[in-house]
Amino acid sequence: MVRPHVLLVTFPAQGHINPSLQFAKRLIKLGIEVTFATSVFAHRRMTKTAASTAPEGLNFVAFSDGFDDGFKLDTDDGKRYMSEIRSRGSQTLRDIILKSSDDGRPVTSLVYTLLLPWAAEVAREHHIPCALLWIQPAAVLDIYYYYFNGYEDEMKSSTDDPTWRIQLPGLPLLKSQDLPSFLVASNSKLNGKYSSALPTFKEQLDTLDGEENPKVLVNTFDALEPEALKAIEKYNLIGIGPLVPSSFFDGKDPLDSAFGGDLFQKSNDYMEWLDSQPKSSIVYISFGSLLNLSRNQKEEIAKGLIEIKRPFLWVIRDQENVKEEEELSCMMELEKQGKIVPWCSQLEVLTHPSLGCFVSHCGWNSTLESLSSGMPVVAFPHWTDQGTNAKLIEDVWKTGVRVKANEDGVVESEEIKRCIEIVMDGGEEGEEMRKNAKKWKELAGEALKEGGSSEMNLKAFVQEVGKGC
Ligand code: UDX
Repeated sequence: MVRPHVLLVTFPAQGHINPSLQFAKRLIKLGIEVTFATSVFAHRRMTKTAASTAPEGLNFVAFSDGFDDGFKLDTDDGKRYMSEIRSRGSQTLRDIILKSSDDGRPVTSLVYTLLLPWAAEVAREHHIPCALLWIQPAAVLDIYYYYFNGYEDEMKSSTDDPTWRIQLPGLPLLKSQDLPSFLVASNSKLNGKYSSALPTFKEQLDTLDGEENPKVLVNTFDALEPEALKAIEKYNLIGIGPLVPSSFFDGKDPLDSAFGGDLFQKSNDYMEWLDSQPKSSIVYISFGSLLNLSRNQKEEIAKGLIEIKRPFLWVIRDQENVKEEEELSCMMELEKQGKIVPWCSQLEVLTHPSLGCFVSHCGWNSTLESLSSGMPVVAFPHWTDQGTNAKLIEDVWKTGVRVKANEDGVVESEEIKRCIEIVMDGGEEGEEMRKNAKKWKELAGEALKEGGSSEMNLKAFVQEVGKGC
């Protein structure tokens, strides 16, 4: 009997690579061989760290997306990117599938992340069962589904009027700011070149519609999104998350002490400083791997941090070798109070005892990591799914407070200060958030334990992958 072999095709962005790598590691533990495929650029960067810690049975391969030296979000053409990654990626996947068969280790299942619906076509051509790994919350998948199934006009008519609301089955009442940014017509400036992502989401859903029993592995867990996971009858949404290293919960598994696939160079001079700070004192600020804040917004954050007089760790990624933080007007004062780094191990930071609050853009991975570490959040969403995630954080799981932007879309220093104080001060509201955050950490850990919902769901999936071997 051949060993089951999953070809895992991952969009080359940090927010896809991290959960995918965790998924791969869990499959390996259950006896599956995994071939992890991503772009040449991402492959080059991530394998520096991931390959050295990869367990036996995890292989890395690359396909060209036409931008082998990296895609620049602000200047390169998003539409061209999507077309190049499709044509070049499809061909490489075909070659990988044929070669694996020739080598006597045929691909028995293909799993692909969001934005790569063409990978499902390749699987179909080769009669290989496939599944989508959805790296955002189930609620966001539901909202896209409803948009393309009867609610488009209503969502498009959404306005910033605070009385505007939409009720979608299985979801809380949503305001315009809670919808994924691509669905709100007035957000075209915010979405920039990426407004071309919407047709890809449509194609993704059409792809699922064309399958007999569409399987979607969702990076969430049953207790976190019980209704959203069941909202769409014709899709089989399966909660297998949180796809985070197990060391968020027990710190014991050396193989799983990091994601292992960093696309950015980590700074290594913050741990000692974190160790030297009082318990629960630090404000950690990070906006993920894609977002570049305006200069004005960074100045407001800097002012807010200085006014609040608390130690902080702030991730500002270097952009094309420009160290933007050096241009901040109050850099000298900032340096006395905290640290700015170009990239860190978010896992190490969030689980450090000195941490007290996470100011986050609410990318889905950061959201799950905040829940898995029991860390309350100042939700500072920007685009794509982040507004929906912020809504869930503030109103459903009640683990954080969401900032309010001014008319120009900038969050001012006073507002940043107000929100951090709510989370960190000893008041009732902050206390409640900390309590809820701890509760979600426990529930996340339970979902992953032997016999937990996500562990059982993953085992059931693995059994299917093993069929026919
Ligand atoms: C993107 C989208 O922006 C997000 O909205 C979507 O939900 C997923 O894809 P990104 O912006 O990178 O993701 O944010 P996020 O999902 O939070 O992923 C970032 C990852 O990078 C996290 O796993 C985080 O732990 C890691 N990270 C971030 C680091 O390891 N170090 C850092 O310094 C910052």
